[in-house]
Amino acid sequence: MPTPVTLISGDGIGPSISSATVRLLEAAGADIAWDAQCAGMAGVARYGDPIPDETLDSIKRTRVALKGPLETPVGEGFRSINVALRKTFELYANVRPAHTIRPGGRYENVDIVLIRENTEGLYIGIEHYIKIGSDPRAAAESVALITRAGSERIIRYAFDYAQRHGRKKVTLVHKANILKNSQGLFLDVGRMVAREYSNIEFEEVIVDAMAMNLVLKPERYDVIVTTNLFGDILSDLISGLVGGLGLAPGANIGLGGAIFEAVHGTAPDIAGKGIANPGALMLAACMMLEYLVDEPRAQRIRTAIEETIREGTVVTRDLGGTATTDQFTDAIIARL
Ligand code: NAI
Repeated sequence: MPTPVTLISGDGIGPSISSATVRLLEAAGADIAWDAQCAGMAGVARYGDPIPDETLDSIKRTRVALKGPLETPVGEGFRSINVALRKTFELYANVRPAHTIRPGGRYENVDIVLIRENTEGLYIGIEHYIKIGSDPRAAAESVALITRAGSERIIRYAFDYAQRHGRKKVTLVHKANILKNSQGLFLDVGRMVAREYSNIEFEEVIVDAMAMNLVLKPERYDVIVTTNLFGDILSDLISGLVGGLGLAPGANIGLGGAIFEAVHGTAPDIAGKGIANPGALMLAACMMLEYLVDEPRAQRIRTAIEETIREGTVVTRDLGGTATTDQFTDAIIARL
């Protein structure tokens, strides 16, 4: 029986990199029944909603989605796409792997998976202004909510991920020296969970030191787990270490399912030109195959992508070549 997967092609370069990715997966023999749905501007055009109920219903059925980049419409009355998806499916773990593919860059041996808590911390939107005298916005407060349960599930997820993928170390990044309660709780839970995984090394690093260490010695790190805001910042820093957005995949995993995507946006400057790099979405599709317990196929596709990039003659413009999206895809398929 083919596995049903919701496919959201996305806006801008989305349709072109999504069809390249579907073509690659089909060439690799992945047995997937795609349920094509829309969101973003395509959702607004069709249903007047950037995250239509039809799309949410599809993901509720399939519990797995591959999503191209989406343009969030500017203006009142539209639901935030990411918030709606995170809330509906409780996507608490944001997983962002980054590793060196092309030799000769600034760093040779980066192989890091950053796992970011996606539902708590400073991003939950509990904030308000405080009026002082006649100034209604004299001050502002934002709440960084950390719960024991939320910390435990993300830290456990990181250790389980490390165990499943044969990784050796989990580094917990925090700021408990200053934020003694919220970050202190996250760190305490980390120490407690770490005791249950004696075969995996556990390390604690303060976030400011981590920013420096990642630039000086990124090869020291393996799996990183951290809270929402720190994870947001450090994951972009880490994609920069391995050559930027064109090859950065991500997964949002939770109780209600999993959504796999490229980290980059809709690239309006190159949309419609047929020159976008489909690599990030293809690597996200490999993460999806692993999630669907089809690891050998994921590995075969990943190897074909990496060899094509390393060989370097048929690659897209962002990777220093002149190939179109389709030519790059053909070259990867030829290497499968
Ligand atoms: P962007 O990631 O779309 O583009 C930044 C730069 O990277 C551009 O020069 C673009 O051409 C280049 N680029 C991005 N992906 C590429 C690829 N696959 N191949 C070659 N070059 C690539 O970021 P920007 O311009 O800030 O955002 C554009 C739109 O995308 C906005 O509407 C934003 O809201 C949306 N967006 C959506 C995301 C999502 O759905 N996950 C994530 C980030 C942005």
